[in-house]
Amino acid sequence: MTTVGVIGLGYVGLPLAVSFAQEGCDVVAVDIDPRKVASIEAGKSYIEDVSSEDLKELGGRIHATTRYARLAKADAVLICVPTPLTRNREPDLQPLIDATQALGEVLQSGQLIVLESTTYPGTTRERVAPLLEESGMAAGRDFHLAFSPERVDPGRTDFTLRSTPKVLGGLTAECTERAEALYGLICDHVVRVSSPEAAELTKLLENIFRSVNIALVNELAMLTDRMGIDIWEVVDAASTKPYGFMRFEPGPGMGGHCLPVDPFYLSWRAREFDMATEFIELAGKVNAQMPYHCVSRAQRALNDSGLSVKGARVAVVGVSYKADVADVRESPALKIISLLRGLGAEVLYHDPHVPNLTEFALSSTPLEEMLTETDLALIVTAHPSVDHELIATRARLVLDLRGVTRKSSAARATTITL
Ligand SMILES: NC(=O)c1ccc[n+]([C@@H]2O[C@H](COP(=O)([O-])OP(=O)(O)OC[C@H]3O[C@@H](n4cnc5c(N)ncnc54)[C@H](O)[C@@H]3O)[C@@H](O)[C@H]2O)c1
Repeated sequence: MTTVGVIGLGYVGLPLAVSFAQEGCDVVAVDIDPRKVASIEAGKSYIEDVSSEDLKELGGRIHATTRYARLAKADAVLICVPTPLTRNREPDLQPLIDATQALGEVLQSGQLIVLESTTYPGTTRERVAPLLEESGMAAGRDFHLAFSPERVDPGRTDFTLRSTPKVLGGLTAECTERAEALYGLICDHVVRVSSPEAAELTKLLENIFRSVNIALVNELAMLTDRMGIDIWEVVDAASTKPYGFMRFEPGPGMGGHCLPVDPFYLSWRAREFDMATEFIELAGKVNAQMPYHCVSRAQRALNDSGLSVKGARVAVVGVSYKADVADVRESPALKIISLLRGLGAEVLYHDPHVPNLTEFALSSTPLEEMLTETDLALIVTAHPSVDHELIATRARLVLDLRGVTRKSSAARATTITL
């Protein structure tokens, strides 16, 4: 039986651990957070894409622990730790370095190590391999090493780990073969590339592609606002082209752990090659502008009804960074709330996935209760479980940043879309 180790049990690591366990593998799941370890041991999931039932059904096949020593018995170990930015917006590889050093101390001859964390091209070869080689073993000879980016899209149900092709690139042909055999257990289609660098850049290209296209449609939304053209009508019409166009929708800006962060790993790396990655920087700038644009749109909407933001009661609907998840990391809603408060608004929020926003000392208010005394309802994230029809009917004024009320029969002149 194959034993798989997973380091970092977050949005990426936990679903991977569960997939391998479901295929009959023994899984050693390591995290430095003892609360996560205890939660898994108790069969309680803290990730939307993994149900507690799934964890319980797997019985004893996932062994969660804070102890790296348990990884010594694994045939393969997948590293899924965070790769954030520092305060100066440079790659912060500290979690990866910590995890790799700890793994190096228990590394065994013949093991396959795969990095899954999103990072700049060169990380696997230049940063991970040397740290593991401090064990005295050589990468590609005594142990195998590869990079395989995770493509999980939290909240998505139409594509699963199994049905989403998995890209991978090993340090040597044998490393790639070992990794392909491993991922073949949980993925229907494995895509081999020639090197870890190609695999690392593949993931960044995917995320940069999204970031740039979102920025493009957001910039057009700011322009159409001035021109008096409905951006949604234009996006709908352009989407009827059967080829050469891909739909992206305007919104309040980018959030989550990936799009606001990952592209800057490449910008940083590009500077070593005397290149300024202008698309990346520009997309970041335009997307960071959107919460400001949305607040100024809210200010105008209130003004048009004879109200000022100062003293207005604003109900923010949806605060996670996207629909159907609880993740508020880098969510544009946080920026919007802080800007509205700065202007003197009284802000309440409703989000079925986010019970509390501790940094604002706020708790989710029941929707009906929130709408009664509200001057403006601001739809920031459109969770399908939220009754947007009710919002369009009840709220005095609605600013819909996601276009969900556009087709609503209840939408009135006081329902405005971005
Ligand atoms: N969240 C996504 O949708 C997504 C999608 C694709 C790729 N990624 C990438 O995958 C990586 C992980 O992202 P995530 O969203 O799962 O992060 P996460 O914060 O949800 O989980 C990371 C886990 O790693 C643990 N950890 C940190 N340092 C550790 C260490 N030294 N040893 C052991 N455990 C440690 C943390 O406690 C945490 O539980 C990142 O590089 C991210 O960019 C994320």
